Amino acid sequence: MSLFTPIVLNRTRIIKDSEILGLEYIPEQFLHRKELITEIVNIIGPTLIDRPAGNMIIYGASGVGKTASLYYVLRDFDKDCIKLKKDENINLFFITCSRSNTSAAIVRMLCRKLGINCSGQDQATLFSKFLKKIDGEDKYSIIILDEVDKLKTDSDIDWIIRSIVRAKEGSQFTKFNKDSLKEGYIGLICVANDINFIKRLQTGTIESFGNHRTFFPQYTKEQLKDIGKARARKAFRPRTISEEVITKMAEYAEKQGGDARIMIESLYESALIAERNKSKTVELKHFNKAKKRIEDQRIRQRLNNFIKQVQWYYVFTCNTYDLWKNEAKQSDISDCKPDKDYYIVPNANTIHKHYEAGMRYYGRQTPVGNRQSRKYLKLLVSKGLLKEVSELGQTLYAPTLNTSIVKEILMKKLIKTKEEIDKLMPEEVIRRAMMKKSEEINKEIEELRKAEPVK
Ligand SMILES: Nc1ncnc2c1ncn2[C@@H]1O[C@H](COP(=O)(O)OP(=O)(O)O)[C@@H](O)[C@H]1O
Ligand SMILES: [Mg+2]
Repeated sequence: MSLFTPIVLNRTRIIKDSEILGLEYIPEQFLHRKELITEIVNIIGPTLIDRPAGNMIIYGASGVGKTASLYYVLRDFDKDCIKLKKDENINLFFITCSRSNTSAAIVRMLCRKLGINCSGQDQATLFSKFLKKIDGEDKYSIIILDEVDKLKTDSDIDWIIRSIVRAKEGSQFTKFNKDSLKEGYIGLICVANDINFIKRLQTGTIESFGNHRTFFPQYTKEQLKDIGKARARKAFRPRTISEEVITKMAEYAEKQGGDARIMIESLYESALIAERNKSKTVELKHFNKAKKRIEDQRIRQRLNNFIKQVQWYYVFTCNTYDLWKNEAKQSDISDCKPDKDYYIVPNANTIHKHYEAGMRYYGRQTPVGNRQSRKYLKLLVSKGLLKEVSELGQTLYAPTLNTSIVKEILMKKLIKTKEEIDKLMPEEVIRRAMMKKSEEINKEIEELRKAEPVK
């Protein structure tokens, strides 16, 4: 044994280059997105021949390659800008709106990039300063707003898009006017994860994009398999993963919404587990363990986007659903067949009652009222955590995430003391809290009766 043996033995057995499995990595070949990539190229390409960029909306579910294909296009764009000596003529702004989540924050980002002092000025003033500056510089500008649907409110979205688009229309218009100043042209690319994004925009705003609305569909199993294989070939040592395992991963990623990110996370997490278990290859058993971790992480990320009150609300919504399901199972209701799932899905009223009771039991925060409760339901539906089911003339709500994982994560987070978590499973809590409520009401009624003079 040499002094170096521990290092050599410690060498990773499967992963050759973990960076390639990172989510920031831009693949050399962008599979199955050829036409969509050409559409992006055609929108920003004109700036390389001194013409303005167009406007475009890109939308599609999470993990379908929207951000990565933009990076992929921009990598070549940057190279050509330098080659054609156009880098001085073009301003490129790439803003991830989940990080700057108000229209004011976006305006400040735009200004800062041009060296405009932002302190103590409102967004409208700043925005006109920004326009003046790009006008003065006579450059072509491209603004990319990634994850634009993550802006706080729909009016933030409308404000920023309209302001940019109007400035563009204004500048095109004044170009015909010989006396006008030099004008900077702006092209706008909006990217949204919400597949209903377009419906959320006002008609006037949508029209500015003409027919440049590009939908990125979910990947199929075969496409995910290709993406996974290409990635594994680069990131793993040879012969460390079989076709069979990659196929299983692709099936899983397809089921989870045709999401390439899940395909890549499956490769990475499974390989890490395999290495930890001193295996030379990635096996199905490693992937099965990885799945649980991936699901946990995803759910955690999605839940973190909400304030505590909404998290509490979601716990009890999931719990109501579980409770009803269990009850239906036990009572063997013949209607509760898989195709008639709606009989066991609760409505807004039931959810609210359970939520109130649960909150009262834990006593951490005052429960919100009925009206706010409806707003939370709407929010959770719009964020895809609940599914609306219209049945029997009413709207019912079913959680879309794995309810036991949600409860496990959130209860740990919201209830800090371990004893409480160990002792009280939420289902039990609800029952007891509901009982407590009716006991209280009975008592109140009794007292009222006593107080009322009997005629
Ligand atoms: N066609 C593809 N070929 C190779 N990798 C891809 C492809 N599509 C997506 N990916 C990878 O999947 C991950 C998620 O893609 P991303 O573009 O971030 O999704 P989103 O649509 O949510 O913006 C990234 O790591 C990206 O590199
Ligand atoms: Mg993205």
